[in-house]
Amino acid sequence: MKRLPIGILGSGKGSNCRAILERIRSGDLAAEARVVISDVLDAPILDIAREFGVTNAYLPPGQFRTRLQPEAEEHLVKLLREADVHLVVLAGFMRVLHAPMLTAFPQRIINIHPSLLPKFAGLEAWKQALAAAETVTGCTVHYVDEKIDHGRIIAQQEIAILPDDTPESLHVRIQMAEHELYPAAIAKFCEKYAAANL
Ligand code: GRF
Repeated sequence: MKRLPIGILGSGKGSNCRAILERIRSGDLAAEARVVISDVLDAPILDIAREFGVTNAYLPPGQFRTRLQPEAEEHLVKLLREADVHLVVLAGFMRVLHAPMLTAFPQRIINIHPSLLPKFAGLEAWKQALAAAETVTGCTVHYVDEKIDHGRIIAQQEIAILPDDTPESLHVRIQMAEHELYPAAIAKFCEKYAAANL
């Protein structure tokens, strides 16, 4: 099967990136990680890329806190295009993307979020779910648009909230589910890519 060229963007520990790279290595995911890019110089996600022998890059984000400086975002587009990336996979990327990326990769940027969107967008969604006394939460894979944790939903996995759950215990179970849901969602893109013979 023709392999889908993906680029992974992240700012942190990279456990989702690891799950994806493991599935690629084991042959379960017909994708090819062309590049891993981080806006954080010493982010563990870059170490994971090196561990798996994947090209990786630090992208200096510029002066803003929650977005990339426009020149940096243009540079990101260039890096991803040079790597011939077809699908952009956000895995804990902590900046909101804007026009340069959204117009360069329409319907080709996806994200994973630790709640059942549209509930609990934003930071520490598992804590938000606990504080709201929910009995069920989960994780969501969705297309990225100009709003935070918004955009058409691709896949969701529910997780029961247990009576004795702490934020930590709940977060661990959500992340375990993410590590299954994200590769499975990407696999659907792989199938479409191979079928379309792009
Ligand atoms: C994940 O929990 C994801 O839902 C959120 O950021 C976190 C990234 O974790 N968008 P990791 O870096 O993949 O471990």
